[in-house]
Amino acid sequence: MEKITNDLIYVGVDDTDVDLFEGLYTVPNGMAYNSYVLLDEKTAVIDTVDERFCSRWLENVRAALGGRKLDYLIVDHMESDHSANIAALTAEYPDVTVVGNSKTFIMIDEFFGSNAVKNALTVGDGEKLSLGKHELTFVFTPMVHWPEVMMTYDAHDKVLFSADAFGKFGTRGAAEGWDDEARRYYFGIVGKFGVQVKSALGKLASFDIKKICSTHGPILENDLGRYIDKYAVWSAYLPEYDGVFIAYTSIYGHTKAAVELLAEKLKSNGVKNVKVCDLARSDRAQAVSDAFAYGKIVLATTTYNGGIFPTMREFIDNLTERNYQSRTVGIIENGAWSPVAANAIKAKFEKSKDIVFAPTAVKIRAALDDESRKAIESLADELTK
Ligand code: FEO
Repeated sequence: MEKITNDLIYVGVDDTDVDLFEGLYTVPNGMAYNSYVLLDEKTAVIDTVDERFCSRWLENVRAALGGRKLDYLIVDHMESDHSANIAALTAEYPDVTVVGNSKTFIMIDEFFGSNAVKNALTVGDGEKLSLGKHELTFVFTPMVHWPEVMMTYDAHDKVLFSADAFGKFGTRGAAEGWDDEARRYYFGIVGKFGVQVKSALGKLASFDIKKICSTHGPILENDLGRYIDKYAVWSAYLPEYDGVFIAYTSIYGHTKAAVELLAEKLKSNGVKNVKVCDLARSDRAQAVSDAFAYGKIVLATTTYNGGIFPTMREFIDNLTERNYQSRTVGIIENGAWSPVAANAIKAKFEKSKDIVFAPTAVKIRAALDDESRKAIESLADELTK
């Protein structure tokens, strides 16, 4: 049993078998579903784990309790990677009191039927629950990442149980830094809800936090301001890198040649951060994460079926549905006949806030020629300013 503090025990699991998290995201280093047992005069489990790990998790809970009665199950988030074993827990500990808010219990009924919970304690935003020396405060943080989400703060050890917030892809022991997989996770899963994340950060500002126990990824305990600052930047849709992210699709290599020329020109202009991504052969969530990380992006693609090449179209949808905003966008379009992709791309961003298109939209008729090479130089200069 891994002790996090004198009274807090980790009972979560690492998932190294998952192919796609949420059926959508590649997780080459697996996934962690974190769950905790807090021991005091009263005992509490904080969140459960994915359904496939029910028996292992229950064994962990039993061992952590050491034969003691379980008083509370605190449900911070009802998405199934954390809630799937609520009914299994209440079956084993029928007298446990399940703690949630009014939205939590509606979802519990939806997932498990109305008989899964015998004792329910419905809490309000800011309400407290004492386990003895550990006084818990429930902080409602809707849409981070579902409407019922709340975080739980333990004032005794200054631990914040943050639900999905500050989590990342990868098992807890994955040999990788936090930033890249936390950013990919953030923009994939809660990127759309920047306003709500910002509001949650505002609420958390008044708490003295020494450890963040997310439902995913490592327990954070050093330099917490750094992680909170990253969330402040991401939730405000601010770029992290002063550079250019070039996302492209290319059918026969001509658009790719244009992109390579642009990257070369940008570098020779002195732009240090230039990243090129072939959307058809790259991880979608990584491309989305990069588009948010850079201040300027270039979209290079072909006209296809009278519109935008499908991979690019889907990529742009992934950005706009996550409230992509406040960026400079350059466009390179390629079409041997009736090119329409540039206008179609602009139309896709019509409802996006503060998108500025680079003045030069490069048009390639099948393959690069002198005119399109010159336009690429102009685009590179515009993106260098
Ligand atoms: Fe990790 Fe929104 O569930």
